[in-house]
Amino acid sequence: MNILGIETSCDETAAAVVADGRTVRSSVVASQVAIHRPYGGVVPELASRNHLEKIVPVVQQALAEAKCSLKEIAAVAVTRGPGLVGALLTGFSFAKALAYARGLPLVGVDHLDGHISSVFLADHCPSFPFIALLASGGHTAVYYVTSRTEAALMGQTRDDAAGEAYDKVAKMMGLGYPGGSIIDEYAARGDPDKVTLPRPYLDKAEFDFSFSGLKTAVGRYVTAAGNNLPEVMPDIAAGFQEAVADVLCYKLIHAARVKQCRDIALVGGVAANRRIREKLLADAGPEGLRVYIPPEKYCADNAAMIAATGFFLLQKNGGLDVTADVYSRTAFK
Ligand code: KG4
Ligand code: ZN
Repeated sequence: MNILGIETSCDETAAAVVADGRTVRSSVVASQVAIHRPYGGVVPELASRNHLEKIVPVVQQALAEAKCSLKEIAAVAVTRGPGLVGALLTGFSFAKALAYARGLPLVGVDHLDGHISSVFLADHCPSFPFIALLASGGHTAVYYVTSRTEAALMGQTRDDAAGEAYDKVAKMMGLGYPGGSIIDEYAARGDPDKVTLPRPYLDKAEFDFSFSGLKTAVGRYVTAAGNNLPEVMPDIAAGFQEAVADVLCYKLIHAARVKQCRDIALVGGVAANRRIREKLLADAGPEGLRVYIPPEKYCADNAAMIAATGFFLLQKNGGLDVTADVYSRTAFK
């Protein structure tokens, strides 16, 4: 059963065709990074307008790459929230109209459930129940995952998301947007022990996060460096990255201990980070845990994860009502 997935929650226009919730037949992502870069972050109105421009060609490309006609599509799965409302509405309205015109079921997928599902787009998949840490630009949260459609939230960030902290630290250092991969590059050349930064564990027994204090502490090093900043930037980046890696790895492994799970997953844009991946593998091994991280192309926003989740939601709940709307935050789900 082929599902057409559509994702427009933020600054990527994405479409994909996934068979049986597992086999990716195509996954097309049109990034808007170049459009938002001059502003140092995503400009919501520009994002919506660009989705409107790209949505038809991106969907056509996804169908063409999958060698699949609309006649072979069984349902349309689309991100319903959380995200930027204007951006979500372009993809959702398009998907609703397409599904209506073709007489297909429309499946609304939560973006965060989609990220969790991305771990099943790899060759080796975790067994239920497992712990998933989602670390992206908008969210940082730990889940106890019991099926393809069920994940219980164990804790989340109280302020900045991990990816957001990366983006803000990069901005402070004048490194542009988005910051995650740039900091990753700089950090590889630095010595994390040259700077002393806090590890914001909060309560070590709980699974909430807070990255805003760490970001402020990095800001103090940046200010103190003055004209020397270019020289010390790799060390500051490495120190910041090590602090984020320590906290994320600790919380994820601790959650597995508490819930007695053998499998853990790291998903979301930050899961592309080389040091965090490496540290998680190194720390989890001695604990007897098996680590699952999606291929890099499925860590960042994509529609394959939406189509894969949509397949299982369709079996469980059927399609959405024609009056269905989007939501900006999970609280409004
Ligand atoms: O999941 P994603 O594509 O979009 C959201 O749902 O937010 O995540 C984007 C975030 C950005 O904050 C970006 O800076 C971060 O993921 N990111 C990284 C890396 N690549 C992307 N953070 C750390 N290291 C990376 N290599
Ligand atoms: Zn995302």
